[in-house]
This record gives sequence, structure tokens and C-alpha cells, in this order.
Amino acid sequence: MPETSTVPALYEATRRSLQAEPKELPAVWLYDERGSLLYEEITQLPDYYLPRRETEILRARAGEIAERTQARTLVELGSGDARRTRFLLDALTTAGTLDRFAPVDVSEEILRESSWAIAADYPALSVEPIAGDFGRDLDSLPAEGPRLVAFLGSTIGNLYPAQRADLLARLSAELGRDDALLLGLDLVKDPARLERAYDDRTGVTQAFVRNALTAVDRELDAMFEQRRFVYDPRWDAEQEWMDIALRALTAHTVSVARLDLELAFEAGERLRMEISAKFRRERFEPELRSAGLRVEEWWTDRAGDFALVLALPE
Ligand SMILES: C[S@@+](CC[C@H](N)C(=O)[O-])C[C@H]1O[C@@H](n2cnc3c(N)ncnc32)[C@H](O)[C@@H]1O
Repeated sequence: MPETSTVPALYEATRRSLQAEPKELPAVWLYDERGSLLYEEITQLPDYYLPRRETEILRARAGEIAERTQARTLVELGSGDARRTRFLLDALTTAGTLDRFAPVDVSEEILRESSWAIAADYPALSVEPIAGDFGRDLDSLPAEGPRLVAFLGSTIGNLYPAQRADLLARLSAELGRDDALLLGLDLVKDPARLERAYDDRTGVTQAFVRNALTAVDRELDAMFEQRRFVYDPRWDAEQEWMDIALRALTAHTVSVARLDLELAFEAGERLRMEISAKFRRERFEPELRSAGLRVEEWWTDRAGDFALVLALPE
């Protein structure tokens, strides 16, 4: 589970969000070792188009990104298996500028494995993994610039707008004149396609989401019973995000011993597990501007499903 120094903060955040309205679990519970493996399976699903669209753009643009940023340090937030990061690593090593790769992830196991694999495949690079929460642990990023900070996979969509604004403002304050930010963003599209992307026929996505309850049962001595909940992903047209929840079938109480909580669920009550916001350029560009960042490039795939945005400090 998450790195030790982040644990008390995570427990506190979990207590607050379980007592909020609607009830919620912090999304980091999704990414224990099993969750990270299930997420890798999700990325192979035909209906989960995101990684393929991002790959299409990275394949076309990585050379240009390397040329423009001349990055000596590549930082990646929420790096996971860092599979698509390799397009950037290849282009930056070909350009001859890159010395260092610093992946940041809350899931220690996947961070360790991906760091080993990248160190083996790119022997000239210094690989400096940071186990931590990108919402809290940005102080320990390597300082040697020019730096490129990548945040791929539309993981930024898992943050609420206020958290997103806060993260963008802190990144903007951290970036120097030679640094750049690269963001992968899933775009607003037909809700039926979005709902299929988060509710595949094989049930892998559901297993991924339910696994967070198993993680909480294990780590927090909780007594969530899977059979009392149904998987309930919905498109929220007003907020323009996928609202991914487990819905209680009947009224019941769940104890969470390590947090000293007794949680009463009503029949039909939802426990939100994650949001996945979808983006539009006309709404996101002003968000970047408010954070002190400007869009240098906004590339999309041919189908217009996904965007890769290169942003620079103003
Ligand atoms: C949607 S996956 C994306 C993984 C990879 N970047 C990709 O595009 O396939 C999100 C990743 O972010 C990590 N993560 C989620 N919340 C995090 C947080 N608050 N701090 C650091 N890492 C986090 C997860 O462990 C996971 O590896």
C-alpha cells in the first residue's frame, strides 16, 4: 500500500471522505499491488480507448517534445507501469539531453518494478523513483533543469476541480523558465462510449473498483461486504465527469475499526470510488491560465478523443 510517510494523511483523508456527503473513498485505495495489475489489464480492453489514443499522439509528437523541451530531467506524476513514458524516454535519449527520470507514484510495488525495468533498458539514465502522493509530495522533485513534468493517462481527471487548480498552481510555482508540463487529457465525447469505457463486459473494471474495498478491509480492519454493493458507473452531464461508485443494495452498517467508524448506508446509497473528469479546450485553457501556465501545443489524436498538452510557465 502507499508509502509509510503518507499513511496517516491517507487515513485522515479516508475518514473525512467516508463521512462526507456523498460518501467517498480516496482514489489512491484503487492502486494497491493488485489494483495496479488490474489497471494494466484495463489498458488492454478494446473499449478503454484512452491509452491507444495517447499512444498515437505520443508516437507522432515525442520527437518534437524532446526538441522543444531539451529536457535533462523527466519527472512523471502517477507513472504506474510507465509504458507510454517510453516514447518520451526514447525521444529524449535520442536527442541526447536526458540524464534523469523521476517517476512519482503512490503505489510502491508498481513504482519499484517500473523503475527497475527502465533502469535496465536505459542504462545511461539515473532513475530516481519517488514513492509518494503527488497531491502532497512535490517538494522532493529533482531540481536539475530543463525539466519536463509529464502527467499522462488523464490521471489529472481523477482530481476534483479545486484539487486540480491547486495542483496546477503548485506545479506552475515549481516550474522554472526552462521547464515544461505535458498533460494527457481525455476529452468530452458521446456518453455511451464513456460508459462503455468504464463498464466493460469482462468485468475487469468492476473488479478494479471493488478491489479498493478489499484493500480498505485489509488495511483499515473494515467490514465492507462486496455482495451488499452493485457497481454503478454514471456519466454526470453537468459536471462532465464519470462518477464511479458502488451502490448499497440494502440498508446496512459497515464498521471501519482502525478509523473507529460505524458507517450507516441507506438502501440505494452510493459510495463514490473515483471521478474521471473529461475535458474541453475552451474550459481547460483558462484553468491553466489561472494557474500561471499557457498552452504551447494542444495536440489531439485523429479521432479527436484525447489531447496531449504541452504547457509552459507564463
Ligand atoms: C490512471 S493510472 C495511470 C498510470 C499511467 N500513468 C498510465 O497512463 O497508464 C494512475 C496512476 O497514478 C497513481 N496515483 C493515483 N493517485 C496518486 C496520488 N495521489 N499520488 C501519486 N500517485 C497516484 C496510481 O498508483 C497509478 O499508477
